[in-house]
Amino acid sequence: MKLYHNPASPFVRKVRVVAAECGIADQLQLEEVVLTPVNTPDQLASDNPLGKIPALQLDNGQCLYDSRVICEYLDAEFQGDLYPIEGWQRWQVLRLQAMADGLCYAAVLVRYEGFVRPIDKQWSQWIEAQLAKCRRAIAQLEQDCAQYSDQINIGTLSIAIALGYLDFRNPDEAWRDYAPSLASWYAGFSQRASLQQTLPA
Ligand code: BEZ
Repeated sequence: MKLYHNPASPFVRKVRVVAAECGIADQLQLEEVVLTPVNTPDQLASDNPLGKIPALQLDNGQCLYDSRVICEYLDAEFQGDLYPIEGWQRWQVLRLQAMADGLCYAAVLVRYEGFVRPIDKQWSQWIEAQLAKCRRAIAQLEQDCAQYSDQINIGTLSIAIALGYLDFRNPDEAWRDYAPSLASWYAGFSQRASLQQTLPA
């Protein structure tokens, strides 16, 4: 399977973490792409019209996107057992995933605003609004931490990836100062092999 990939993308990392948790990391052939919202490589655009990563080209020629679809596909095909099948726990885990992905989206928008957009068009209010989303999400994760801190599933893995991306691109955010329980959980959970093997670069 060919994974369109960039080592900095938290959404790509999520796919790689799920592949590692499923024990099939070595089946992913990583095809590195350099892209921004205004610059899409042709091959990627032909496989994913949205021009986004991750995109996973399967051996049957089909291409899957986005990260949520790919992760659920890998889990189902390779028995990852990362998605509770039924009951309220399923919705809690999916909500955790949504929170973590939303945190990543906001942090990626901050990155694009500061790194891709021309300086004379940058909008500090935009950056502040995205960072405010990140801070509210972290405050909520801190509040709920005891409910999920003993779980290994798509929700908790997604949170670890989001926090890792924040540390990578926004090291000054100092989220640990106002989220000590989350910080303590993350210090232990982030030692999982799947997370250590996929640290952003
Ligand atoms: C980044 O450099 O932070 C990045 C790269 C690709 C996708 C998302 C983020």
